[in-house]
Amino acid sequence: MKFFVDTADVAEIRDLAATGLVDGVTTNPSLVAKSGRDFFEVLEEICDIVDGPVSAEVAATDSDTMLAEGKALSKIAKNIAVKVPLTRDGLKACKALSGDGIMVNVTLCFSAAQAILAAKAGATFVSPFVGRLDDIGSDGMALIADIVDIYDAYANFDTEVLVASIRHPMHVVDSAKMGAHVATVPPAVLRAMFNHPLTDKGLAAFLVDWEKTGQSILDR
Ligand code: G3P
Repeated sequence: MKFFVDTADVAEIRDLAATGLVDGVTTNPSLVAKSGRDFFEVLEEICDIVDGPVSAEVAATDSDTMLAEGKALSKIAKNIAVKVPLTRDGLKACKALSGDGIMVNVTLCFSAAQAILAAKAGATFVSPFVGRLDDIGSDGMALIADIVDIYDAYANFDTEVLVASIRHPMHVVDSAKMGAHVATVPPAVLRAMFNHPLTDKGLAAFLVDWEKTGQSILDR
């Protein structure tokens, strides 16, 4: 499973990328607005930090302008994935952009029917928003299971399932159980995945017992 970090906060990305466990980044207009920075500048900086796909979302809603914006965004760096919304115009732009060899992340996916269209449009990634479905009492993880099953049934569907709108580590775990290709994880959730109280307790006990030996590993 690939881990993308879901933020436009460069300090967070730099810190988590240093673990060697980050395979890409996703941004969206809300995350860019939250950063308070120039869109192109922050994307350039992110693309310098992370070698993997970095999603940058168009702002237009008509396919022609989405296409122009997508081409402009793709020139920022070779690892830019252009994000377009899962609308009729978005999929039309996706078909054209992917035809030009540009990575496309089709976002705001909330149904299996939409995900089938994204695959047919040649999307590199489709982003089903599990958290927002859970937020309204729907079953976000059931959607992931459906999309993975459908995509697995068609050898010509090359689109990767990029689970988004993740609220907690169990969204990541359940997505992995279902074989989703990517989880885009908010920094706080990714940090939470490292932690377990029994790990902390066990490590503390190991260190106390090691101290009693009076030995050192490096001073040999
Ligand atoms: O990448 C999409 C993600 O940022 C949306 O998450 O929490 O706004 O539903 P959220």
